[in-house]
Amino acid sequence: MIPFWVVMKFLIFSIFVIFKLAPAESYSIDDHLIKTILVRAHNQLRREVQPQASNMKEISWSTSLQLLADYKVKDCKSSSLSLDYNGLTYGYASRLIKDITEPSITTFLTSVEEWFDSGQYYNMYDNECGYTPRVCENYVQVAWANSSQIGCAYNYCTIRNYESNEYYGVLILCLYYSAMDGDLPYISGDGCSHCPESAPYCNQGLCASATATDRPSDTPYSSNASVYKYNAWYLLVLLMIMYMFGKLY
Ligand SMILES: *[C@@H]1O[C@H](CO)[C@@H](O)[C@H](O)[C@H]1NC(C)=O
Ligand SMILES: *[C@@H]1O[C@H](CO)[C@@H](O)[C@H](O)[C@H]1NC(C)=O
Repeated sequence: MIPFWVVMKFLIFSIFVIFKLAPAESYSIDDHLIKTILVRAHNQLRREVQPQASNMKEISWSTSLQLLADYKVKDCKSSSLSLDYNGLTYGYASRLIKDITEPSITTFLTSVEEWFDSGQYYNMYDNECGYTPRVCENYVQVAWANSSQIGCAYNYCTIRNYESNEYYGVLILCLYYSAMDGDLPYISGDGCSHCPESAPYCNQGLCASATATDRPSDTPYSSNASVYKYNAWYLLVLLMIMYMFGKLY
């Protein structure tokens, strides 16, 4: 028979753990497939810019950018992002998809495509936008040659527009490092003909920091995240057992 106080301690501890650990960013993108698809879509579209780019870097997933995006997307204010973080500036692209209850792989994919397609309003010869500047900025950031890392997040949001209409939907946010800075997004020319020193290899028209065989995958950091998660659960179970048997108060 398990003593009553052990059961009580277990219950109290469980409640504590649930409230302490159930994070507000429980919508965080955990799915490896979604991360891979976001990275691949970016790289594919970056290969297809017109005119062709000579210094376009290959993009990979960054867990620290993802964590920052999880945090930024919490307040649903995509338009007032302050993107200075530890002295570094990150770029962003965002999209609110109305009236959907659950984002799917297609939702993420079409967001990247929509940002890229807004390039039709952008004129690279005079660096001007034939539409609301923010619309072209999504394209310029996706096609920003020097960006080599992304991290994305989503949240369920109600957003009021300037006519006070309210929209409910899913807000998708991707952060980029390094950020666009108002200059032209890339140098046109033959693919990989102007690769920077930090990304000297060529991967099908994109400047890569490692050769294809050196590169573990499109999402080099994602496996470590699950290792940390596993360790955290292990530690918790251990703490819970210690607590139940009166070693902790
Ligand atoms: C290019 O990106 C790197 C980080 O990937 C950054 O350190 C560097 O300052 C950037 N260069 C320019 C010209 O923005
Ligand atoms: C991820 O883990 C591998 C080994 O499993 C290690 O070499 C690599 O440095 C780790 N990456 C990060 C970002 O911690």
